[in-house]
Amino acid sequence: MTKETIIGIDLGTTNSCAAYVDGYKDGNPNVRLIPYKGGDYTIPSIFAVDDKGNELIGYEAKRQWQLNARNTIYGAKRLVGRTATSDIVETMKRVVQYGVKPSADNKEVLIEVAKREMSLQEVSARILNKIRDVASNHLRTPIHKAVVTVPAYFSDRQRQSVKEAGKLVGLEVVRIINEPTSAALAYGVGKHLNQKVCIFDLGGGTFDVSVIEIRDQVFEVKATGGDIFLGGIDFDNAMIHYVLREFQTKTGIDLSTDPVAMQRIKDLAERTKMDLSSREEAPFNIPFITMTPQGQPLNIEMKFSRKLLEQLTGELIERTLKILQKVLHDSGLSTHDIDEVMLVGGQTRMPIVQDKLTKYFGKPPSKGVHPDEAVAIGAALYAFSLQDDTNLKLQLLDVIPMAIGLEKADGNLHIVFPRNAPIPNAKQIIGTTSADNQAELIMRIWQGDHEVADKNEQLGEFTFSGIRQGPSGAVRVEITFDVNVEGILTMRAQDPDTKNELTTTVRVTQS
Ligand SMILES: Nc1ncnc2c1ncn2[C@@H]1O[C@H](COP(=O)(O)OP(=O)(O)OP(=O)(O)O)[C@@H](O)[C@H]1O
Ligand SMILES: [Mg+2]
Repeated sequence: MTKETIIGIDLGTTNSCAAYVDGYKDGNPNVRLIPYKGGDYTIPSIFAVDDKGNELIGYEAKRQWQLNARNTIYGAKRLVGRTATSDIVETMKRVVQYGVKPSADNKEVLIEVAKREMSLQEVSARILNKIRDVASNHLRTPIHKAVVTVPAYFSDRQRQSVKEAGKLVGLEVVRIINEPTSAALAYGVGKHLNQKVCIFDLGGGTFDVSVIEIRDQVFEVKATGGDIFLGGIDFDNAMIHYVLREFQTKTGIDLSTDPVAMQRIKDLAERTKMDLSSREEAPFNIPFITMTPQGQPLNIEMKFSRKLLEQLTGELIERTLKILQKVLHDSGLSTHDIDEVMLVGGQTRMPIVQDKLTKYFGKPPSKGVHPDEAVAIGAALYAFSLQDDTNLKLQLLDVIPMAIGLEKADGNLHIVFPRNAPIPNAKQIIGTTSADNQAELIMRIWQGDHEVADKNEQLGEFTFSGIRQGPSGAVRVEITFDVNVEGILTMRAQDPDTKNELTTTVRVTQS
């Protein structure tokens, strides 16, 4: 075998899944999911360190979670590549049992596990490595390359972070693609379609919507949007907070500071939430959750109805619908133009989500893709199209999810690429010096849709040095912004008069 298999990986917030293409079947690529122990096709995206210092990943980590909540890391994906703004760190602290803190330079979020500090990138790297090991064993050949999916709404830095995570464990992430785009590939490859589809992806941690036009092998994203802090975990949290409130009203005891109790509540909340997708009511009982000051054991004995769950999470569902409306508006299409609505992500199994979409589009969502597997299948197809031995030629025309721009003197954002600008994409701007013999030019670049620059995410402070000497305003600098097919920005600068390249250095810090 001379060719090297490139696998597709859906690195999910709660579950990850991998797939590959095993030749052709009836003229189409034959996609296979990679099974884990026990035959499951998904693996929990959980990392833990046990009391002996062993690292556990996937099911092993999930199994011991209740007893070792402080050293069990889940939801890493939401924080990877995020600047440690106090907002994010505080939000996370409220909802996770492990330690979260900003790094000394505020550049990233660190977690504390087994008295060690780790970056989220390292945690993601461990999970990628595990998936790669399972795939290598299954395929009986070492795997070195993968296409990895990310939420469409991931920023440049978050994308870079996932690539870096692969590098840490010697896995080359040959291409990052967007999860909804990947799901569209799973749906459309080999079908010779001419359709406009809407992908509604509500997973464990993130929410994405994309409107995509499929013309046979061409997949053109018209608009995308989302929220990387909106997913099943938030539905669980709405239930958990309700349970805590009720318990406190009844007993005066606040369970939120007891990690073991919290973990037990969290487990049952998620299971009950899933049950309520197929039944109207479910009991919510946890024996011996705590003790009274007098040493009397206390239980949680409650009941949840589907209605109550819908009330507690109504605001979250409204947020998804608002984003959907905005994306459809950005795409320039109306609900009638959409041929199929595709549901992706486990949380779309909630009946009210499907009802709301049916109402909005005037027709029920399609059953054309598997909500848990579509993203990995699409990634495998795309990976196959990049392999040497392939006839599959796919064209992905994607967009950036948020504007990219530079900070002006007044602190506002000068937009270089608007939201939904197609990628790959390059733009040039010309700057001039503002002092005599100015040797360098510093530019702060941000990504986001807020008009005030520092209300967005900083992509970096770029310094262009080696500028030719000359009086103020007389020397020009031509700066090129390049966003590649993966939505990752690089910048370079040259003197347009001498054509000399300037030296570019980048520093990432949040002011
Ligand atoms: N039957 C169900 N009803 C309601 N929610 C469900 C059901 N099955 C799974 N979920 C929820 O779906 C979420 C997991 O979905 P999924 O595996 O698609 O997420 P992910 O790919 O890991 O996350 P993301 O795509 O956000 O990174 C969990 O929050 C889970 O509780
Ligand atoms: Mg997902």
